[in-house]
Amino acid sequence: MQFTVKELLAQSPLQQDIKINGWVRTFRSNRFIALNDGSTLQNIQCVIDFEQTNPEILKRITTGACLQIKGILEESQGKGQKVEIKVSDLTILGDSDAETFPIQPKKHSLEFLRENAHLRVRTNTFAAVMRVRSALAFAVHQYFQKNGFFYVNTPIITGSDAEGAGEMFRVSTLNPKSPPITQDGKIDYTEDFFGKETNLTVSGQLEAETFAMALGKVYTFGPTFRAENSNTSRHLAEFWMIEPEMAFYDLDANMDLAEDFIKNVVSYAIANCAEDLTFLEARLLEEEKTKPQQERSDLKLSDKLDFVVNNRFVRLSYTEAIDILKNSTPNKKKKFKYLIEEWGADLQSEHERYLVEKHFQCPVILFDYPAKIKAFYMRLNEDKKTVRAMDILFPGIGEIVGGSQREERLEVLQQKIADLGIDEKELWWYLDLRRFGTAVHSGFGLGFERLVQFVTGMGNIRDVIPYPRTPKNAEF
Ligand code: 4AD
Ligand code: MG
Repeated sequence: MQFTVKELLAQSPLQQDIKINGWVRTFRSNRFIALNDGSTLQNIQCVIDFEQTNPEILKRITTGACLQIKGILEESQGKGQKVEIKVSDLTILGDSDAETFPIQPKKHSLEFLRENAHLRVRTNTFAAVMRVRSALAFAVHQYFQKNGFFYVNTPIITGSDAEGAGEMFRVSTLNPKSPPITQDGKIDYTEDFFGKETNLTVSGQLEAETFAMALGKVYTFGPTFRAENSNTSRHLAEFWMIEPEMAFYDLDANMDLAEDFIKNVVSYAIANCAEDLTFLEARLLEEEKTKPQQERSDLKLSDKLDFVVNNRFVRLSYTEAIDILKNSTPNKKKKFKYLIEEWGADLQSEHERYLVEKHFQCPVILFDYPAKIKAFYMRLNEDKKTVRAMDILFPGIGEIVGGSQREERLEVLQQKIADLGIDEKELWWYLDLRRFGTAVHSGFGLGFERLVQFVTGMGNIRDVIPYPRTPKNAEF
């Protein structure tokens, strides 16, 4: 019978004829093959009788080779594993050149592995990260489906550039060498594929709002694109975002949902990815040892995850945050790159990290930001200065969620659009929501890779997505 390694280890069908496929991790003493098939972190030890094995075949059992093995599962004689396969038949499905295979059984740097992203998933670290990523994606859908949300697929190519969440990538079929030109010398997009200028979406929010105003509670989970030139360990040009949008939710309900949602999906990973998380915790511990003392975290990965699940996130208004930051030691000693001098300043990641990692040592939800530094669609407060925005800030990550209560009043929204110089015609359909049965509604966006980073403890966002897209890099 054909098994995966995971099934074999769980069921232990001792003394039965079994068949298994996988890739060689190591082969030692011409006798012990550590075979991995990706179903679990663990390898299965396959023991061959080298005297009975054709020497030509023996030579071809190299790291990276793909094998089919038939044999009998037995209790292991050696240490390190409970069971092992006594091989009766071995077929080489795919040879691997031991000299040139990049993934040798030794430690490789994350940078080197990024250059070999097509093979890095054959390492324990990346296989573990990608299994956790998959589990988290499932947990996201499960959470929303269980709570009465409908999954909506918002467009990836968009004709509206009004969201303003970031620089966009143009989508065009015009000939870049000789595009049609209008009389005033501009590119004539009426001749383009869609008859207008189109881009890859930066967010599905505005379209999700239209669905919330019919289905009540919806969520998106799809790729989003931002052409910012941010070469940081937290930014990708292509990332996956989860955007729930709920009719009849005010900002408090929105914050409650976001907190419950994050706790729920993190709990799911803790409960279902124990083996991979234990491995990643040990990896992180090793990595921390290479850092200078003051940059090391005192918490283990599992402690960090438990902490988030078991503690209420601190909720703090922007105004309170500014007071704390103004009076903070790094601000007074001019240690911040951007000093906080007055109310209205945009918070940089150094400020967010100070609040979360030094001051509160806990996830923080900041709300009621100055209208000036937030998007046009956020609901204006009575003070006319602040909007019902909220950001969730996480230790080691910074902003993991950005959301708001939306402006549901037509006139207020029109005024905001006019003030920002946006053409109202661009947003005719968005304004229609406020014309036909408007209602209080809210939503947020969670950056999926930042969540995966938090749960796996990986320091660089490039290492939690299969093929990272970043400035000057779109290999694979
Ligand atoms: O704060 P942002 O820009 O919010 C929006 O796009 C809203 N339309 C969301 C909504 O209310 N429906 O992005 C949301 C989250 C951020 O908090 C961050 O976690 C992630 O998306 N994010 C990125 N992740 C990776 N790379 C980037 N370049 C990111 N930009 C934002
Ligand atoms: Mg944001």
